[in-house]
Amino acid sequence: MTKTVLVTGGTSGMGKAMALTLKKAGWNVVVTGRDADRLHQTDVALQEIQGDHAVIQMDVRDPEACMAAVNQTRQRFGRLEALINNAAGNFICPTDELSPNGWKTVIDIVLNGTFNCSHALVKGWQEDGVSGGQILNIVASYAWQAGPGVAPSAAAKAGVLNLTRTLAVEWGYKYQARINAISPGPIERTGGADKLAMSPEHAERIRRNVPLGRFGTPEEIADLATWMLSDQARYLNGECIALDGGHWLNKQPF
Ligand code: HXC
Repeated sequence: MTKTVLVTGGTSGMGKAMALTLKKAGWNVVVTGRDADRLHQTDVALQEIQGDHAVIQMDVRDPEACMAAVNQTRQRFGRLEALINNAAGNFICPTDELSPNGWKTVIDIVLNGTFNCSHALVKGWQEDGVSGGQILNIVASYAWQAGPGVAPSAAAKAGVLNLTRTLAVEWGYKYQARINAISPGPIERTGGADKLAMSPEHAERIRRNVPLGRFGTPEEIADLATWMLSDQARYLNGECIALDGGHWLNKQPF
């Protein structure tokens, strides 16, 4: 039976690439996003690929909207096996200049949004008796390193990484579920690259710090995500895979 995956923030960058690649790999794909125009463009792009899909406008900060999206998906496709918590929000701001609402906004999207969608998903698993479902979270290497200038995102991603491991144990036992994460490095054509590699000079500095000498692509993240959700990765649980050309390891102390 065809399985269904819901991708949050799936209208651009890595989320859109994952949605397109997973549909090509035979999944029913549901894409959520906040922006109606971008959802429409994604809908059109998905129509080019054989199979079934849906798009849903919603904000992961709203727990009721997350539950409604999961229920809409279950009504349409019978059940929802997998979730990719890809929606993110971030901006560069020195922490001593950050407003409380700036902090709260990023934490709400990244950490609370991941919880809201995962919690809605598990309610669906309970009602449909789903065993062997999956969650794939997207983090960043500053989840375990310092994140100067991006404190809310770093703190939120650290929370998401811990939630990945905690749920891998809790829901591994209870639902035979696999909960994993990807830590992308610098990836071209993403909101992160637009915000964090602000000038061509800055982008070039980042590129030189990647041992493989280039930014990654959204399609490379999508290929890894597709493998991680596949049966080939059936014993992978609680793991975070850095797909970054060796970027985070490259501290060059000497
Ligand atoms: C300081 C800022 C700010 C900035 C927003 N705020 N931008 N503060 N510097 N550049 C503050 C606002 O002043 C406000 O606080 C609060 O944050 C909320 O701002 P809003 O614009 O009202 O929020 P909203 O419309 O909900 O937008 C959320 C957002 C936005 C996060 C600010 O950028 C967004 O929607 N982003 C989604 C896409 C995205 O960011 N993608 C990149 C992900 S990169 P006050 O106090 O004024 O009310 C990523 C990791 C990359 O996740 C890792 C690479 C290695």
